[in-house]
Amino acid sequence: MSLQGRHLIDPNDLTLEEIQRIIDLGLNIYHHPAQYAEICKGKILGTLFYEASTRTRLSFESAMLRMGGNVLGFSDAATSSVQKGESIADTIRVLDDYADILVMRHPREGAPKLASQYATVPMINGGDGGHQHPTQTLTDLITIQHYKGEIKNLKVAFCGDLLFGRTVHSLLKTLSRYPNISFVLISPPELKIPYHLKNDILQNHDVEIIETHCLETHMHEIDILYMTRIQRERFFNEEDYIKLKDSYILNKDKLEHAKEDLLVLHPLPRVNEISYDVDIDPRGKYFEQAKLGVYARMALMALLLGVVESC
Ligand code: CP
Repeated sequence: MSLQGRHLIDPNDLTLEEIQRIIDLGLNIYHHPAQYAEICKGKILGTLFYEASTRTRLSFESAMLRMGGNVLGFSDAATSSVQKGESIADTIRVLDDYADILVMRHPREGAPKLASQYATVPMINGGDGGHQHPTQTLTDLITIQHYKGEIKNLKVAFCGDLLFGRTVHSLLKTLSRYPNISFVLISPPELKIPYHLKNDILQNHDVEIIETHCLETHMHEIDILYMTRIQRERFFNEEDYIKLKDSYILNKDKLEHAKEDLLVLHPLPRVNEISYDVDIDPRGKYFEQAKLGVYARMALMALLLGVVESC
């Protein structure tokens, strides 16, 4: 099925074949950027960021500019008419006429889904509350494909705030659709993966899930370690955050027994959960991951806009 004109709200909106098409195109753009430098000439990306972002917003902007298109939007809802009480529906009805494709980040879960009901142009979820972050998942998958060569036969550990981390929810859900992937979920008891998500994965996929609070126990056998920060902005009180904020700090010593080809990923921003000494370890690929996110988003927008064939 063609990707042209479609919305991307949840990673499950894409089949594995469609995800592979986005990854393959993204890597082709990465290797041959000049071939794609004009494909979005005359196209406009609208960015609606109701919540703070560095990578998602700016990588989308970079992606559109690198394809010859233009960008408009807001990075702070307080500087838009949202401050005067304008609804999401009315904002989208207007932006729909100003741009050819839209990306929205919102603190409320489900806001991009609601927005998509008023958009005739493709609407992309740039992260909604503690729910989903599908383009971070595309970023994560293109990175895995780039460094591992394929997305299968992997033991993947997620560490940190698995309760509120939307990047974890999206990637876990998506990886569980791939062949022979098993998971180690490392978190304090207070920040375990939501029960409904774990249950949904176990009921629908043949995967092994180990839950533990210890970062070191499975270090020797994992292929990917996906670190996350404790999501301060989602806590109801500061005391709880302070109690949990230093739960895990990955440093070079903790990697001593890890595989030589371990991939350490992190959606970023980092607070203190990865020490700077890991940055110079060849296994730490989180900055390369952020870079590859630009190419994943170039591919996604090119396909949703129909400037490149879906297959
Ligand atoms: N990974 C990610 O979503 O980063 P930003 O919050 O900076 O966009």
